[in-house]
Amino acid sequence: MEMTFDVKSMDFKRAGEAAGKIKKALQLVGMEIDTVRRAVIVAYEAEMNIVIHARQGTLTAKVHPDRLEIEANDEGPGIPDIDLAFQEGYSTAPEHVREMGFGAGMGLPNIKRFSDDLEIESKIDVGTQLKTIIYNQTSGE
Ligand SMILES: Nc1ncnc2c1ncn2[C@@H]1O[C@H](COP(=O)(O)OP(=O)(O)O)[C@@H](O)[C@H]1O
Ligand SMILES: [Mg+2]
Repeated sequence: MEMTFDVKSMDFKRAGEAAGKIKKALQLVGMEIDTVRRAVIVAYEAEMNIVIHARQGTLTAKVHPDRLEIEANDEGPGIPDIDLAFQEGYSTAPEHVREMGFGAGMGLPNIKRFSDDLEIESKIDVGTQLKTIIYNQTSGE
């Protein structure tokens, strides 16, 4: 099973919808509760990064019996320094976004923490591609 959702920049009314739909689908097919929990965090943070930092993009979930692949592709400014972007608390979110409670700088660190494998490619002024794998098992945390 595979599903893809469009994600628009600064659309805070619909922000989180794609991650919510992925959550429902994973629960329906009977993924481990812990896998669903981790996948939702990864999907939500990836979706929010498109909403806050990019122009537009897609969030995709590919569901296999043993694993999930969550991918986010966007057209946007790209990430100039990926190591810096993964540091806890680092954020370039604008003030009006912070006032809504976003921009804590924990999205990418949490995507890394809750996924089992992560690849990111980013091109300045073109966009960002994020690919993660989450195995369908309890994490033991
Ligand atoms: N899809 C993206 N496109 C451009 N920049 C991004 C993207 N995702 C993350 N970033 C950059 O990495 C920083 C850290 O991301 P993250 O840890 O999710 O924190 P936050 O979203 O709260 O700012 C962002 O502030 C932004 O500068
Ligand atoms: Mg973020």
